[in-house]
Amino acid sequence: MKIAVLAGDGIGPEIIAQAVRVLDVLKKDGLDIEIEHGLIGGCAVDVSGEPYPDATHQLAAQADAILLGAVGGPKYDVLPRALRPERGLLAIRKALGLFANLRPAILYSELSEASSLKAEVVAGLDILIVRELTGDIYFGDPRGIETRDGQRVGFNTMIYNESEIQRIAHVAFQAAQKRNHKLTSVDKMNVLECTQLWRNVVEEVSKEYPDVTLSHMLVDNAAMQLVRDPKQFDVIVTGNMFGDILSDEASMLTGSIGMLPSASLDSNNKGLYEPIHGSAPDIAGQNIANPLATILSIAMMMRYTFNLEQAAQRIENAVRKVLAQGLRTRDIVSQGTHILGTREMGDAVLSNL
Ligand code: NAI
Ligand code: MG
Repeated sequence: MKIAVLAGDGIGPEIIAQAVRVLDVLKKDGLDIEIEHGLIGGCAVDVSGEPYPDATHQLAAQADAILLGAVGGPKYDVLPRALRPERGLLAIRKALGLFANLRPAILYSELSEASSLKAEVVAGLDILIVRELTGDIYFGDPRGIETRDGQRVGFNTMIYNESEIQRIAHVAFQAAQKRNHKLTSVDKMNVLECTQLWRNVVEEVSKEYPDVTLSHMLVDNAAMQLVRDPKQFDVIVTGNMFGDILSDEASMLTGSIGMLPSASLDSNNKGLYEPIHGSAPDIAGQNIANPLATILSIAMMMRYTFNLEQAAQRIENAVRKVLAQGLRTRDIVSQGTHILGTREMGDAVLSNL
């Protein structure tokens, strides 16, 4: 199990250090894990002048899985766009063909007061959004802003070919098989031909997964249902743009950016695993950042790249226990709970592992 670790900037090194301790425990308990560290984002710019240097690409390309902290910070905001740390993220996703973005939104019962919705609506929420990450209107041509008949016109192209839809559909159906055998595909087929094809292809792929119940929903209704009754969903699959919007909406139902992991996979289940939050420069270097999203990203790595469901659940259960013990980092603290620093939260997870 070759794992490339890219800590990045800001709180990246602090949260990654705690996640690497979890990997060390798994290794000690018998998993054949090899870790190599590399640079991405601002720290890479500092050393090599580029946010995604070739050495990092070589490391990432040879690894089975990549664990990433976060990139960016005010120090780099003055750089030209092509050298910005965030370009490093886009570059690695594109270079490795990471087309499937998996974002769970789980509300831990101990944190139910953190949600923006009423407790009874979100209690027990556990959904997974599967977002296509390398196609759709974000990448389609032609695109641009030009002048036609004396006025400016802006345009983009929403485009998917059937193989792009098939491969993300397979990822979603397989994820549904590992969960509750229920999949909702989200499109806008009533007005957009591109998403009519989406619906047709997802329907065709469903024939290979008779044990998964497939339903379809229009994206405007899906946005509404996510706040009306989010627990009706289990796995949601959708295109790049709708997934961008719906996954942000869903993640906020859990109220805690420091808790949410993500995976971006290629067609061989090689994956990049990272917390959904950024480099949090406002709290960097203070040992107060929440490392749980990064630790939970390792659980996803075990589940999706290495197919080790037991190892994944072991990590998730350790996190649940920590929360049940009333232990919190500052971002998720509430009355009657105990505040820990980043490293101390790592200690608590390790002792529950
Ligand atoms: P952010 O996610 O870094 O921070 C937003 C707020 O959440 C801040 O108040 C921060 O302190 C808090 N926060 C984030 N993660 C936390 C954690 N683990 N524990 C406790 N509190 C946490 O987003 P922001 O401030 O918009 O961006 C900061 C930098 O990060 C920017 O340079 C941005 O471009 C970059 N960024 C990088 C991402 C990535 O590497 N995937 C994603 C989003 C932003
Ligand atoms: Mg977004």
